[in-house]
Amino acid sequence: MKDTFYLNISTADSLGIGLFKFALTPQERFLIVNSAFSHMLGFSSKIELKKEKLADLFSNLNERDEFFRNIRRAGRVNFFETLFKLKNGGNLWVAITCSLISRDRHEYIEGIIENISSHKEMEGNLALERDFLQGLLDNLPDAMYFKDCNNKIIKVNRFYAKGVGLNPEEIVGKTDFDFFPAEQARNMQKDDNHVLSTGKPIVGRIERTLLPDGTWNQAITTKIPMYDRLGKVIGTMGMTRDMTAYANLEKERLSMVINTLTILGKALEMRDPYTFSHTRHVANIAEIIGKELEWDENRLLGIRLAGELHDLGKITIPLDILNKPGKLSDLEYSLIQEHSKNCYDLIKDIDFPFPLSEAIYQHHERLDGSGYPRKLKGNDILFEARILAVSDVLESMTQHRPYREALGMMSACEELKNGSGIKYDASIVDIVLNLAEKSGRKIFWKNN
Ligand SMILES: [Fe+2]
Ligand SMILES: [Fe+2]
Repeated sequence: MKDTFYLNISTADSLGIGLFKFALTPQERFLIVNSAFSHMLGFSSKIELKKEKLADLFSNLNERDEFFRNIRRAGRVNFFETLFKLKNGGNLWVAITCSLISRDRHEYIEGIIENISSHKEMEGNLALERDFLQGLLDNLPDAMYFKDCNNKIIKVNRFYAKGVGLNPEEIVGKTDFDFFPAEQARNMQKDDNHVLSTGKPIVGRIERTLLPDGTWNQAITTKIPMYDRLGKVIGTMGMTRDMTAYANLEKERLSMVINTLTILGKALEMRDPYTFSHTRHVANIAEIIGKELEWDENRLLGIRLAGELHDLGKITIPLDILNKPGKLSDLEYSLIQEHSKNCYDLIKDIDFPFPLSEAIYQHHERLDGSGYPRKLKGNDILFEARILAVSDVLESMTQHRPYREALGMMSACEELKNGSGIKYDASIVDIVLNLAEKSGRKIFWKNN
């Protein structure tokens, strides 16, 4: 009780802290109470409160018994939170700190009572908010996680935990390396570190994930930085939505369209085997360039398809012009030039998730405006079309044609080098020259 009685009654009253001394023997009764205590419970005076017994003030009988058990066992109780009855029949949250005193063969409890109702209300509100947020997180059909600055997981929701086959609390402190293949985890951490260092979110990144149960899923992920009150980045928060079902549907739809277009390609082959092998090789080259650029699977599929179909418009050009040995007349040449527009017209209404028809339309355009059919220049030419242009030149010059012998890799590389930054995109030419160098100036694409 020592420390309690450093407070005198008037100080305790002015602080709103209740003071009491309660005799357990020979007769249970309050010996001392202050005004703050009686006011706290809604009694009109100290005398009125003194008529009560300490045990009768408890609203909850189990808590009452626990309180008396504790004080008898330890001789002291610190900040025992319980509900006290109010005079008007209501309840009030209080905290009791008191000691058991034995003096002259009698026992007393001396201590203080604090009104903690506002603290409890705040605690209740916080718990409500916490439960609401937790409920929201756990009912989301998306995986959510929070990580600290060292990419360690601080919290995940139930959906995330289910995905990795653990309980949410077992995941805390772990990293992506504990759940995913190393390369995948490295990419995930690269993104997290990017968000941490730049403070900029990554929105809608499409990724394929190998789950611990061995199945792949296609997901769309958004990562945003988390800040403290001073605006300092303290971690990342991410949300991943499983898109596998949608991606499968999309893939089915796309493969239907691709199959149809392949039939068109076959028609071209039946008519003119030269053109067909050319388009397949161009597709191979364009895909290799896309891979060098670390494009994702969808973009690679797009450029591959564009390569396969880029000369499909030649189906409308008479074979004797197409395969004419020797020089073409101006009229014949202008007929041949129509093939990019013809192909564009053929496929422009098909809905693709990439600019297929436009890339094909532009595959004979050149950066300096010297190309055809629209004489587009510079940035008006799609990057995909620039890849097709370089791949097309490379393939044509290295293959035998009805009207000329193959000119070879050296000449093709020379042409690209001379036109780099003028007719052809310099970054793409660099990739091709690099690949040619690595292969010893040999054909570096599949050529059969
Ligand atoms: Fe062409
Ligand atoms: Fe071509």
